[in-house]
Amino acid sequence: MAGGLFRTKRVKDAAEQAPEHRLAATLSWPHLVALGVGAIVGTGILTLIGVGAGKAGPAVILSFVIAGAICACAALAYAEMATMMPASGSAYAYSYAVLGEIIAWVVGWSLILEYSLVVSTVAVGWSGYAAPLLHAWTGMPLELMAGPHANGIVNLPAIFIIAVVAGLLCLGTKESATLNAALVVVKIIALAVFVAVALPYFNGANLEPFAPFGFAKTISPDGVERGVMAAAAIIFFAFYGFDAISTAAEETKNPGRDLAIGIVGSMIACVAIYMLVAVAAVGATPFTHFANSPEPLALILRDLGRPGFATFLAVSAIIALPTVLLGFLFGQSRIFFTMARDGMLPIGLAKVSKRGSPVRITLFTAAIVAVIAGLLPIDEIAALANAGTLAAFTAVAVCMMVLRVRAPDMPRMFRTPLWWLVGAIAVLGCIYLFFSLPVKTQLWFLAWNALGVVIYFAYARPRVSAKGIE
Ligand code: ALA
Repeated sequence: MAGGLFRTKRVKDAAEQAPEHRLAATLSWPHLVALGVGAIVGTGILTLIGVGAGKAGPAVILSFVIAGAICACAALAYAEMATMMPASGSAYAYSYAVLGEIIAWVVGWSLILEYSLVVSTVAVGWSGYAAPLLHAWTGMPLELMAGPHANGIVNLPAIFIIAVVAGLLCLGTKESATLNAALVVVKIIALAVFVAVALPYFNGANLEPFAPFGFAKTISPDGVERGVMAAAAIIFFAFYGFDAISTAAEETKNPGRDLAIGIVGSMIACVAIYMLVAVAAVGATPFTHFANSPEPLALILRDLGRPGFATFLAVSAIIALPTVLLGFLFGQSRIFFTMARDGMLPIGLAKVSKRGSPVRITLFTAAIVAVIAGLLPIDEIAALANAGTLAAFTAVAVCMMVLRVRAPDMPRMFRTPLWWLVGAIAVLGCIYLFFSLPVKTQLWFLAWNALGVVIYFAYARPRVSAKGIE
């Protein structure tokens, strides 16, 4: 029985999948870098930088460095695993092949949490920039543009944008990836404009005191968890998205080369962009002005007396943030799809349409994440998304290290440099970040996984056993 729990499953090549369960291979590395940058640069830098500043003060810059370093190590492990096992299940599939079924289930279940809640978080972030303009231009009541936590009724713009992106994905992968590449350029230009406008206002006095809430997570008298690490645990959100590239493995023409370039390239580009934006934001204005704002970067530009640039930034965010939704909704449908194909989730959901995209699962996911986005606050959703991601990143780094020891001679298209050091930083860093999340988030994460384990024993395990592992 215990052996069964840890049984492993070889990752099949895309060519080995039955035709009705096979995804069309249409992507190459420029699409993947665009998919990566498109999925990484988003609500983290545009909105959660404000939440992070509220938790760390100017030292949110340090939170960016810490979260970025841990993510970079995890990205290297991902690149190694994704090129060894190019399959759409990402961390779930690697864990199934290396660590065994029950771990794979927990990882897959955590990934569902990550991908779903990222979509919800980003939709709320999108609404943060869209709502003021919608209100000014159309007179739409603010109560219909925020959830009950922010004196509203329901966040309709957040629901609307999820519906649009889900519709786009149902049309087909290639078309969406090409549009995505164009929108990524818009997003990069907007951030470059922010840096160019805000950096000349840099004032060292805004950085003092640098870390008013200390380093490790502590609970402030108002009950909020603060400190550089508490901020890093939230800012972590800004860095992931490169993992969504690995879910496109089966749809990639030359996975060995393209996945490594896509993952490592997009990660390096984003770390550089973020450092510039964070320094420009914190240096330009006292952090208390923009802490916890729903649209902090636009607010900073208005603070600096540059409202035209603020509107430009907001409009760019409105146009381009959907690329993040696209990346994660795409990734979510692929994870679900792979788990269903293995028999762990209802197989009817794993059918692909004539155009090669899994329409049912895309719509099913979109409906759930839209409800969450319509009603819940952004920082809480983001924290829970991070918990799921941290579990997946830990598993991938462990898989990479286990395989280095267990199968040192297996061919590797991409080899993580100093693998033991990089792997250890990724694993220990992710664990430290997890414990720096709010306690409430940790408990929700445990509850989610407890539910997952019940479903595993009641539903998934009997079905997988009956189907047999191929
Ligand atoms: N990294 C992505 C974002 O910040 C999830 O929106």
